[in-house]
Amino acid sequence: MASFDLARIVAETIVQRVAYHDVLDSTNDFALAELATGEVTQPLLVLADRQRAGRGRAQNRWWSAPGSLTFSLVVDGNAWNLSARSWPRISLGTSLAVSEVLRFIVPNEEVQLKWPNDVYLRSKKVCGILVESSPRHPNLLVIGVGMNVNNSLSEAPSELRETAISLVEAFGYPLDRTDLLVRVLRQLSDRLRQLSTREWPLSDCWSEHCMLQGRTVCVVSGARRHVGVCQGIDDEGALLLQSDAGLQKLFAGVVARIL
Ligand code: BTN
Repeated sequence: MASFDLARIVAETIVQRVAYHDVLDSTNDFALAELATGEVTQPLLVLADRQRAGRGRAQNRWWSAPGSLTFSLVVDGNAWNLSARSWPRISLGTSLAVSEVLRFIVPNEEVQLKWPNDVYLRSKKVCGILVESSPRHPNLLVIGVGMNVNNSLSEAPSELRETAISLVEAFGYPLDRTDLLVRVLRQLSDRLRQLSTREWPLSDCWSEHCMLQGRTVCVVSGARRHVGVCQGIDDEGALLLQSDAGLQKLFAGVVARIL
C-alpha cells in the first residue's frame, strides 16, 4: 500500500496521473525514462517512498532516506507558456513555492532561499531542486524536488549532518507527507502560472528571502570563479553580483563559499 494518499493528490492538485513506487533509483530518472517511451499524460507526478540513487545538481548524490519527500513533476512548458529560456525562473519559482509552504506551516521559523534553488531552514539545507528535460520532448519539464521531512539526519553521511536539516528534527513532530506534498504542488502550480505572466515580480519575492543578499560570495560557473557582493536576483533568475569588474549576472553556477 502506498504511504501517500494518491487519490487526494489527484483530487486536490493539477496532477493527472501518479506513478508511485515504494523504491526507485531516482524519480527524475524514472520520469525521463517515461518521456523517452512516448506520449505521457501530464502533469505526471512520479513519487517514491525512497530513492536508492537520488541525483542532485553538479553530479552530486541526493541522500533520500525513508521518511523524506522525493518527487518529480512532469509539466508541459508550452501549456504554461514557459520556454526553455525560462528554466532558471522555473527552478527559482519552485524553491520559492516550497519556502512559502514551509513559512505557512511554521510562521515563526526563518526559511531562506539560496541561489540557484535551495531552501534553508535554520541555516541548514532542507530542500533541493533539480529541473531537467529529455532531448525527445524539450518542452516537457521534469521538476525534481527532494525534501528532508520525517527522515532522521542521524543516519546521513557525516558531511550532511553538519549542513542539512529535516523537518521532524527541527520541529520535534512528524508531518503528514501527503498534506505537505499537496500544499507544495498547489503553491507550485500557482507560481508557474504567475511565471508565465511578466507581471509577477519573481525577483522581489525571491530576493526578500535570499540568504546571500548583501554578502560576499564566491560562485563557480563552468571554469570561472566569480567573487562579489550579492544584490539578489533579477527577473530572469540570474544572480546579481557586484564585483570589481562591475555588476555581473550569473545564470548558472554553484555557490562555493560565503565569505
Ligand atoms: C540539489 O540540491 O542538488 C538537487 C537535489 C534534487 C533531489 C531530487 S529528489 C527527487 C528528484 N529525483 C532525483 O534524483 N533528484 C531530485
